[in-house]
Amino acid sequence: MLTKELIEELKRKGDGELARLVNRQSDLKSLAFILENLGALPEGFNGDFLLPMLRHDHPDIRRLAAKNIAKLADETCLPHLADALRRESNTLARREIVSALGRMRNPKCASLLKEALNDEDPKVVCQAIRGLLVFQGERDVDEALKPLLNHPNEIVRAIVERAFGDGESDGRESLPHSETFDFLKNVVVQGDVLDVLRHVPDESIHLTFTSPPYYNARDYSIYPSYDAYLEFLAATFKEVHRVTKEGRFLVVNTSPIIIPRVSRAHSSKRYPIPFDLHHRLAKNGWEFIDDIVWLKPESSVKNRIGGFMQHRKPLMYKPNAVTEYLMVYRKETTKLIDWNIRRYDQETVEASKVGDGYETTNVWRIDPAFDKVHSAVFPAELCKRVIQHYSFKGDLVFDPFAGSGTVGQVAKALGRRFFLTEKDPIYVERIKSKIEPSLFGEDETRFYALDEFAKVARNDSITANATCR
Ligand SMILES: C[S@@+](CC[C@H](N)C(=O)[O-])C[C@H]1O[C@@H](n2cnc3c(N)ncnc32)[C@H](O)[C@@H]1O
Repeated sequence: MLTKELIEELKRKGDGELARLVNRQSDLKSLAFILENLGALPEGFNGDFLLPMLRHDHPDIRRLAAKNIAKLADETCLPHLADALRRESNTLARREIVSALGRMRNPKCASLLKEALNDEDPKVVCQAIRGLLVFQGERDVDEALKPLLNHPNEIVRAIVERAFGDGESDGRESLPHSETFDFLKNVVVQGDVLDVLRHVPDESIHLTFTSPPYYNARDYSIYPSYDAYLEFLAATFKEVHRVTKEGRFLVVNTSPIIIPRVSRAHSSKRYPIPFDLHHRLAKNGWEFIDDIVWLKPESSVKNRIGGFMQHRKPLMYKPNAVTEYLMVYRKETTKLIDWNIRRYDQETVEASKVGDGYETTNVWRIDPAFDKVHSAVFPAELCKRVIQHYSFKGDLVFDPFAGSGTVGQVAKALGRRFFLTEKDPIYVERIKSKIEPSLFGEDETRFYALDEFAKVARNDSITANATCR
């Protein structure tokens, strides 16, 4: 019987029995099993039997053959791989061949890898870039790679940008990544978010978590049209992008809403806000990371299923909407998340680690919260999870549509700083009643009207040097 142990034993013996076993296999499954379980190949291993398999009828076998040939690191295989690459029609197999060439780390492979840069499959191109980056700095290699900064595929462009960009420095930031401006810390500004953001410097926010107005579904905001509403959100999140630090997160909570019908002669209208907002965010430099579903108990939401329950007529189905979306975005960057984490000292990273009992799926079951003044507040638990998962202690957390200030309250409790904007004075009063001003200087909460904030921003000595608009 064919087992991993048998393959291992024959491989170690190295007396040609493994090659004979391979050649005896007539069915694909067994052949693939052997090739998949060859593991690391001992020095001096004779892999000649793998070369004809680059011409096998089945692409999986050709792919697995290439994968194992790569382990041989044998220059004499090069002509076979070159030949296979030019002939290969299957993109997975082609990718494996290119990977094999790259893993050889042999300058003789460079011209083949350069050829592969023209492959129609971006995954093959990425693999070729990876192989060529071993020789980065050599003029002909750099000359072959740099034009890919204009490649139509976004992942290809990102890899090349990262290779030829500045990978380590804080780049455009005027302050160290983990720090921000004092005049923004624990501040609530009453005013329109777009007016307030004009006075906030570039790259000063670590995390934004917000729930924007739900179009015209509540009375605290009225827009002339759905398009105008979406354009307002797009403009706001474009500004949020500017003030967000490199590679940091934006979490937007929305859900489809319903505008009730005008009369029995009309139907109500549903607006899919998260889906319409998404491409506007992506267009403005927000990279989609995750969708988290906030699941509420059915008893807590408006009952829409009543009519259907009674008549059960097709087309009348209106399920009770028990979910909202938390769309998670990252400010586009060529840097990895690790880069962001490395901007913090070890102590802060340790202190910010998420404790046991965290949710492992993207479905968060959380009861809604209610407030005596505001009609649509975040549950503290929702804020807690977002803030803990997407920021470090000491970070500045922003809520442009602060309402009753739940984000600020929870951020403070979790050892973060907050910056809130809210246009309605009644809600700002509510924030005042919820957020205790501290007796200790640095953490004191400051409330400003727009013009006062503009003055503070102007006068702040650090801001004077920053790129404030
Ligand atoms: C969905 S509520 C947010 C509630 C908040 N998450 C909480 O926990 O209380 C949206 C808030 O955005 C505010 N708002 C609407 N348009 C605004 C604007 N242009 N600038 C600032 N705030 C605005 C509304 O007054 C409302 O309080």
